[in-house]
Amino acid sequence: MEQEILKLQGQAEEQLATVENGEQLEEFRIRFLGRKGQFGSLMKELANVPVEDKPRLGQMANKAKKEIEGLYTEKQQKFAEGSTRATGKSGQIDLTLPGRRPQNGKLHPVTQIMNEVCAIFESLGFSVAEGPDVEHDHYNFEALNIPAHHPARDMHDTFYVSDSILLRTHTSPMQARIMEKQQPPLRVIAPGKVYRCDSDITHTPMFHQVEGFLVDKHVSFADLKGVLTTFTQKMFEKDLALRFRPSFFPFTEPSAEVDIACVICGGSGCRVCKRTGWLEILGAGMIDPEVFKMVGYDPEIYSGFAFGLGIERIAMLKYGIDDIRLYYENDLRFLSQF
Ligand code: PHE
Repeated sequence: MEQEILKLQGQAEEQLATVENGEQLEEFRIRFLGRKGQFGSLMKELANVPVEDKPRLGQMANKAKKEIEGLYTEKQQKFAEGSTRATGKSGQIDLTLPGRRPQNGKLHPVTQIMNEVCAIFESLGFSVAEGPDVEHDHYNFEALNIPAHHPARDMHDTFYVSDSILLRTHTSPMQARIMEKQQPPLRVIAPGKVYRCDSDITHTPMFHQVEGFLVDKHVSFADLKGVLTTFTQKMFEKDLALRFRPSFFPFTEPSAEVDIACVICGGSGCRVCKRTGWLEILGAGMIDPEVFKMVGYDPEIYSGFAFGLGIERIAMLKYGIDDIRLYYENDLRFLSQF
């Protein structure tokens, strides 16, 4: 029996020395120390030895088992330490590992451009006003000289909340909202979201505009040209030519659509400007006397200009992006580039 105890202890030590990972260690435990393990069987055999030998052999077997358990625990700790270091779980901290950089959030590119546009106009003395996205038919159309059944409404098909309440199709309602509350002189920009039933590579059902308007005595089209020229120079950091094309808006007279020389080719013609050398960036004009009359301004005394520019459009030109929908797909690989 004595021999058996020593042999088992020797075997266990030998086996434990070859253990290299947690899995093998567990196999070892089951084989030697587990309930049905070899030390268990040894203890059972002790029941059969003569009574006088029992205390001595019992002590000896216990001591052997304890020693093996000690070695087992040591090995277990060693593996646990190693895995903590590898997985970075609590407990041990490895100061030599590189740190984890927190991910900084940023503003959406459209918001960045919107802020930039506002800052440029603020530097020209304009103040910022914001109005509701859900708007009355009155401000969106009637007060801008677009009565019901006017064909200009066709270009502004939108989402209706009720017969007379809708999602605004442009930021121009802010002209009427501000003018009915304040007296000239006025220099205001109104940034915000606008909505139209439109969806393709250059249109999304929701997009952003910045409205701008200035009302005072003796305001002329030259003032409009000056402000817009200064704006485009600052925005695109280049001396870009502007082109005013005659156009029509019911709330401005005369009206113009304004193009800038293509930011990509400088005017010689490329794919982005469809070989025309020009890119349309905004609608503008002198505020129609009818609009003034509706808010109680005397058009014989006051004149003013207004313009509305699309923010996504400017962001696309500035960053050379040819599909507007990229802005709203929320793909971080795209958004984190700005
Ligand atoms: N509101 C017009 C549009 O969205 C743009 C515009 C604004 C035109 C101000 C003239 C003056 O199409």
